[in-house]
Amino acid sequence: MFPDLSSRYHAELLAERERVAQSGSFRDKVRYDLVERPTYACGLLMAADMARYCGISHITAIEFGVAEGKGLLNLCQLADAVTTETGVGISIVGFDTGAGLPHLADHRDHPEIWSPGDFAGVDKAALEHAIAPHGRMVWGEIADTIPQEIPKLSADAPLGFVSLDVDLYHSTFSAMKIFNAPAATLLPVVISYFDDTLGSPARIGSLFRNRWCGQLAAIDDFNAQHQARKVDSLRTLKARRPLDRELWLDQMYGLHVLDHPLRQVGATRPALKMHDHGAHDIMAWPL
Ligand SMILES: C[S@@+](CC[C@H](N)C(=O)[O-])C[C@H]1O[C@@H](n2cnc3c(N)ncnc32)[C@H](O)[C@@H]1O
Repeated sequence: MFPDLSSRYHAELLAERERVAQSGSFRDKVRYDLVERPTYACGLLMAADMARYCGISHITAIEFGVAEGKGLLNLCQLADAVTTETGVGISIVGFDTGAGLPHLADHRDHPEIWSPGDFAGVDKAALEHAIAPHGRMVWGEIADTIPQEIPKLSADAPLGFVSLDVDLYHSTFSAMKIFNAPAATLLPVVISYFDDTLGSPARIGSLFRNRWCGQLAAIDDFNAQHQARKVDSLRTLKARRPLDRELWLDQMYGLHVLDHPLRQVGATRPALKMHDHGAHDIMAWPL
């Protein structure tokens, strides 16, 4: 059911993974990549943990690039498990043209990999029915729909997790406009999965990936244009994972909302005693 990892990890680690597969908690299973999409499960769980740390009880998660909806449905199922684990409620929004990839503008959209119309063929009504009541769809070109959607984010359900799976540079750059939302409508770190930074190494197309095209270029350009919002790799993620050689770990990023109220001098978490420091993984920050 899950990939054979025996050539990459020690036997003891794999034995522990087997034990977790049999009788582990949801959090343990996420930790050992024993879930369908580790990127979504780990991303959503980290976002909910971050919300708890901030004293926030509900978050929003977005999937940019939905296609037939397999990822969005998975996100909806995971939301139940993450809410049970953390107590944090999750609302989910998907964005897609509904007609596959739009036109490609220039070499940064990787015309050697993608064509307009790729991934067309979604049954819109069936998908909308399947994701209710957790989720809703926003149909249309992201550049057109995002301006109306940003004001719908609220401090009651700030954005905590984003999956960017829209393949093209220009689509990714448009989607990243969500990162310009008012600071209070975002978690101080928005966990972000960038599917197209690497591509599957099993596919020849992955050899075309580079930082001047596609999502890597979109991240660099976003960072160059913003002072208080920066996208960076999740620098401790590998150290937090027993299976630390998995490719997906390099597709996980965080939007750092440097102008977030909780990141300003004078934000009011009670002072720590030395023995508290690191004693709790989650330490709520009363708002
Ligand atoms: C690879 S598919 C997404 C797969 C999906 N995330 C999953 O895991 O099942 C990419 C999708 O991005 C959508 N897309 C790309 N650029 C877009 C844009 N500018 N506006 C809206 N949708 C876009 C396409 O319509 C396509 O369905």
